[in-house]
Formats: sequence, structure tokens, C-alpha cells
Amino acid sequence: MKVPTIAPSSSQELDSFFYQPADSFFRGNSGLSLTYDDVTLATLYSEILPKDANFETHLGKGLFLHLPIVSADMDTVTESRMAIALALNGGLGLIHYNMPARQQLSEVSRVKNHIHGLIREPIKVHPDQCIGDVLGLIEEKKFSFSTFPVVDKDDILLGLLPGHCVRPRFANRGVGEAMIKRDGVLTIRESELGDDPIQRADRFFTEHIGIHKLLVVDAEDRLKGLFTLSDIERISQERSLQTKPARDTKFRLLCGAAVSAPRKADGAIDKDQLLAHVEALVDRGLDAVAVSTAHGHTLGVGEAVKAIRSALPDLTIIAGNVTSAAGVEFLAKSGANTVKVGQGPGSICTTRVVAGVGIPQLTALYVCSQAAHANGVTILADGGITKSGDVVKALTLADAVVCGSLLAGCPEAPGQILEINGKFYKQYRGMGSHAAMKAGSAARYGHAREISQKSAAEGVEALKEVSAPADTVLAQLAGGLQSGMGYLGAGNLSDLRSNARYTRITPAGLRESAPHDIIEVKTGG
Ligand code: XMP
Repeated sequence: MKVPTIAPSSSQELDSFFYQPADSFFRGNSGLSLTYDDVTLATLYSEILPKDANFETHLGKGLFLHLPIVSADMDTVTESRMAIALALNGGLGLIHYNMPARQQLSEVSRVKNHIHGLIREPIKVHPDQCIGDVLGLIEEKKFSFSTFPVVDKDDILLGLLPGHCVRPRFANRGVGEAMIKRDGVLTIRESELGDDPIQRADRFFTEHIGIHKLLVVDAEDRLKGLFTLSDIERISQERSLQTKPARDTKFRLLCGAAVSAPRKADGAIDKDQLLAHVEALVDRGLDAVAVSTAHGHTLGVGEAVKAIRSALPDLTIIAGNVTSAAGVEFLAKSGANTVKVGQGPGSICTTRVVAGVGIPQLTALYVCSQAAHANGVTILADGGITKSGDVVKALTLADAVVCGSLLAGCPEAPGQILEINGKFYKQYRGMGSHAAMKAGSAARYGHAREISQKSAAEGVEALKEVSAPADTVLAQLAGGLQSGMGYLGAGNLSDLRSNARYTRITPAGLRESAPHDIIEVKTGG
């Protein structure tokens, strides 16, 4: 047999013959869908040190992340604790919707009110209360602080009750008697805060040794807010660290929340119910709403996205899930800014087994990225991420990744820790599992609210071994991403996308890619 000769004229040609850019690689493999472990990325000449790689991503209006990682809107992954952890690390949490609407509003508020520079509605006390009342309030609300501004009924500042007076031995004494009187309390006018209130407060605390609270007042001396030294120190420290929290223009943490496409008894989308809830979420400061369903390329999801877009033109809308170019175009034209891509890759998903439907994730991402580019939207790689190498591969095509399984074992994920044979686990379940659908997610899978045993489950109930806190897990993912970017000579995500060169690997190649032929005594994680 005559072997065809390849005569590349340069080393670049030789490399590009074997290691191909996305277009020629995925188009050359059309008809064969590939996922993360089917490919590996080629190294390239680099001037980028991993520590200098920048992975900021802009997902939509006002949705600027310093870490391209989103936590999944699943009831065993994201409530306020996880969303706070994600935002503090530069990412975004999507609060799930398997809970009463009012509770979802409170979860969003918890994230938005978490350590913001200026506490707009500080807890106040009145001069006619006694210290015993204040102690009761601290006990009831579980406050971790005991210094309070004292105001009259019109919020005019009268003084400051210092923590050292708030003790049971003074329970019968009056607040008015114990407080530092107004002329002894240092304050700042709201109008003097300038463009950088944090810096201004930081300067104040440096200038006034021993003062831990700075009260903000208006021209009439009404209390308008409060800075605490510990918040300001933490925020100032964050500013100098590489890890930058994802914040809105008011310096509050970013927060997303998922909604379903609720239906009325006649099957039509209940737009009134949907809009009332989304508007209430926005009132709490929500930065992005995710219309989150298993099949996003449907009339119902299109109508839900259109309704939100026309009522709230400036809100970032995430919608999904899809795996086709037509699906991306449909959601983009309906008004979505970001489209979630993934049908069946998730660790707890059985959609492909049950319905025989879904596309291996990397090919789905390539196809969807092409449509996203053409339609001016961004995409999220949702599901199937099991290691930081998958994050690197996903981000050669997507703008951020959505992680469920990788975060479900963190202490910040909802749910109790279970001990089984001396090992510790947390529950992790698919939103299409019977248990999760009974708790509220049936609409996500196109079922009526009252599901029966006949409704086919598309997810399983599982356990995850308890892992390190989210800060550690995210730092490891970020570190892996930086390594990948360093190997590809990519200083930012746009370079990562254009530099990526792919090659398929065989099962033997995959075996070679992980530790092998050794007795592992310590894992890399
Ligand atoms: P990972 O792999 O990170 O995936 O655990 C999380 C993503 O999986 C999706 N999801 C499901 N898909 N049946 C499915 O087919 C389910 O029950 C289910 N629950 C979650 C979802 O996109 C999530 O972000």
C-alpha cells in the first residue's frame, strides 16, 4: 500500500495538520459528537505565566465575572451561602427555584446584603428602650455585634450605644442614659462620601484610632447608613488580592436566580405569575434571571423569555438548555443574553438514557458557540465538568462554565452531612429526579406540578463525599484554568478561544492522560 506523503513546508504547517483549530477540527469530525475526554489540547508557544492569565468574562449587561464559573441552580447546590461564596470568588451563583417564591426572594436578599461597604439600613435602637430589650434583640436575631446607633422616631441621630454597655448587669438601665451623646459621635455626611465611599471610610478609620463604626447622616442629621471597620478592612483587602469578588455598581455581590416557565391550568405560560416574581427578584437586587429548563428550544420557554425581556429590558436573561444552533438563535431572538448549553452531560443526568436524547458536550459547545457569535449572545457550558482540565476545554468554546457536582460536596451547599461507614457525604440529586420534581422542579422537565410515578425521571439521587470549602475548590479550578491558559499562551479568554488546537484521543490516550501504573498515595487535589 502506498502511504500518502505529507510535505508540510514549515513546522507550523506540520503542527496545524495534526493539531487543528476549532473550525477545522469540529467540522472535520461532523457526524461524530465529542466530549471533554475525547480530546486534548495542544501546547503552544507562550509568553504567559499562569499567574498572569486573566479569565474575566462578560456574560451580559452588568454581568461581569472575574472567575468564569457559575454554580448550578440545583436544590443540592445553590442557595445564598453558595451564591455568596461564588460571588466572593468572582463567579456567580444561580439560586434554585425548588422553594416557595418568598424564600427565593429572601435568599437573593441575603446575597445582595452580604458585606456591602455601606449598610443602608443599620439596626437601630431608641433612647426609651432599656438595655435588657437590646440584649433580647441580639439573642432573638442572633446578631454578632452589640454597638447600635440610637435614633428618634424620625431617624434623627441621637447617639451611639457602645457594645461595652450592652451587658446583663445593666439590663434595667435606659439606652438614653448609656449612649454616647450625639456631640461625641463621629459621623460623615452622605454628600461627603465622594466617588469611592470605601476609600473614604478606610481613611476615616485610619485617622480615628479605636473607632469601629462610622455613621452616615444627611443634611438633617437623619441616619442614612453605617460603615464598620471589619467590612471596610475586608473589602480593602479584597481589592488588593488577585481574587476579586463579582460586584454590581453599588458594590454589592452579584446574584442570579433561576425560574421555571410556570403554566396555567390550560397549559399556557402564566406570564403574570412569572413577571410578578421576576420583578420582585429584581427589586431585591437580582443581577440575572435564568429561565432554566431541560428543553429550552420550546414555545413555552421562548414565550417566558420574551415576556421577561419586554417587561425588564435591562435585565440579563440566561436561558436554556439547548444543544443546537437553532436553539441558541431561538433563545437569542426571544431576548436572552446568555444561553445555557448542555443536555444530558451532567453527573446526575439520565436524559440520554431515558429519552435517548442529548449531545456530547464539546461538540454541542462548538455548534452553539457558532450560533452565539452570529446572534450576539454568550454561552455557558452546563454540566459534565469533572476536573479543571474540562473547564479549560469548555472555555475554548464557551464564556463560562456551570458546575453542579464539583460544588455539591462543599459545606456551602444546602443539605445535611451524612456519615456512612466513617466517611462524610452530602446529598446531590438531579433536578429531574422524582424527589426533586416532587419538591418543585417538575416544570423544568415539562411535567405538571403533581408528578406521578409514571412521569419519567431524568435524574438520579446521589451522594457526594464532603469536599473542601468552595473557596478551596474554586481556587483549584482557577489554578488549573491558569495552567491551561499558560500552556496555550493565552493571556485572556479571548486568546484561549482563538489559540486552542484540538486533537482526538483514544481510550489508551485517555488512560495515559491520568496517573497510571503507580500506587497513588496522595491525590493531586
Ligand atoms: P454536573 O455534571 O456539574 O451537572 O453535576 C450539573 C447540571 O446538570 C443538569 N441537571 C440535570 N440534567 N437531569 C438532567 O438531565 C437532571 O435531573 C438534572 N439535574 C441537573 C443541570 O443543567 C445542571 O446545571
